[in-house]
Amino acid sequence: MKRTLIKDTSHCVGEKVRICGFINSVRAHGSLLFFDVRDRSGIVQAVITADTDSYKIAQRMRPEWVVELVGEVKKRPEKMKNPDIDTGEIEIEIEEVNVLSEAKTAPFSVSSDGGEINEEIRMKYRYLDLRRERMQTNLKMRHKVMHYLRNYLYEKDFTEIETPILTKSTPEGARDFLVPSRIHPGSFYALPQSPQQYKQLLMVSGMENYFQFARCFRDEDLRGDRQPEFTQLDIEFSFMETEEILLLVEEMMVEMIESLFPQKKIKKKPFPRITYNEAMEKWGCDSPDLRENKNDDKELAFAFVTDFPMFEKNEKGEWTSVHHPFTRTLENAEEIKKDPGKIKALQYDLVLNGNEIAGGSLRSHKLDVLQAVFEVLGHSKQDIDQKFKHLFEAFSYGVPPHGGIAFGFERLLMVLQGEKNIREVMAFPKTGDGRELMMGSPSSNISEDQLKELKIEIKNERERKNTS
Ligand code: AMO
Repeated sequence: MKRTLIKDTSHCVGEKVRICGFINSVRAHGSLLFFDVRDRSGIVQAVITADTDSYKIAQRMRPEWVVELVGEVKKRPEKMKNPDIDTGEIEIEIEEVNVLSEAKTAPFSVSSDGGEINEEIRMKYRYLDLRRERMQTNLKMRHKVMHYLRNYLYEKDFTEIETPILTKSTPEGARDFLVPSRIHPGSFYALPQSPQQYKQLLMVSGMENYFQFARCFRDEDLRGDRQPEFTQLDIEFSFMETEEILLLVEEMMVEMIESLFPQKKIKKKPFPRITYNEAMEKWGCDSPDLRENKNDDKELAFAFVTDFPMFEKNEKGEWTSVHHPFTRTLENAEEIKKDPGKIKALQYDLVLNGNEIAGGSLRSHKLDVLQAVFEVLGHSKQDIDQKFKHLFEAFSYGVPPHGGIAFGFERLLMVLQGEKNIREVMAFPKTGDGRELMMGSPSSNISEDQLKELKIEIKNERERKNTS
């Protein structure tokens, strides 16, 4: 007998159905046993009477057991209807019970929204934590937004291209995660902080309109809106100016939100444009929260921040790039070297409710300008040659003017789903100190043979054991 999804059972009054799922709750009422059963599509009430053959098995069933039930769908009497669930007008009178998997008592309730549970325990039993409705909704909305944006860009004639994960360091301001090479002992791949250089090289290839849902890796201190491994919706275009890029981004956001989040209200369209200086003067930060009522989950206040400086000084007094060194400047190479503090970058950020959800820029495709930027950033000529020769060389074969932008996909979802931490919109995130408690990573449980093959020696064995 074909399985019926729970959401469809209310259309099957008078029919026999087979449903599969988890027991959500159990209640005994005299000689009747009631079960709420849940599958990916919803929840339904099932009832079994004491004169049914399977009653004895049903008596043993506990929350979170995985079951298959066969029974007839019946309309509930008027006063027994439950308006809180979609299937509240019916119940299933169970005739057959098949226990597919028994379940230990879960370490926490999966029926609450989870806010009351210790974070480490939630992460350790993430597969159980994901059973709760809030997490199921977040992951499904993540999928829907991804699907919408992907289709949107397909229709605008963008090509989705994957770029390598095992790659070479790209300066995006954070530390790299390194992966040792077995075949080339002593050499390391770096995991990409973003596909920045690859997407620019794709412009040299003449691909013109590129996008990718790209995994990015940054070894930096974590915050609620930062994970060491996260996803960008990464975009790059050739022959487009800032205005066209901002309009595309704005239209894409508005259409996606109006179709997937009709209950939300976008505060202002077109999105306000604020210069970096204005933002710093008025709000003291470059990602201002422009909502009228900051407690209102419905309000979405977007803004573009533009006219960033190219460089800023770090705490050691050295110049660093505000966005990244590949950003185009208004000034030429000579001016860049003369007065770095005055240089204006063709950079733009998209801000939503006080969160920087996307950042991008037009790119420098003039070699002398790129060289000047790297020099200001403290790279020696030799260093530049070693690290970026491929890019300079590629550009020397003909390069269209280009630019792009990347969304922090989880940050966007976090705001849309009304969450406070990007962990809540990721299936298997890391804890605040960079661990994944369920699988137990990072792990020092690496065999001597593996290390030998990689020609890696751990100097402090005790330290290694302590972190396992
Ligand atoms: P940027 O470094 O600004 O630009 O990153 C783009 C967006 O990614 C998000 N983001 C993060 N999200 C979660 N965890 C993190 N650790 C994290 N770091 C950044 C932010 C940010 O706005 N290659 C350029 C883009 C470009 O120029 O096209 C880049 O990566 O929402």
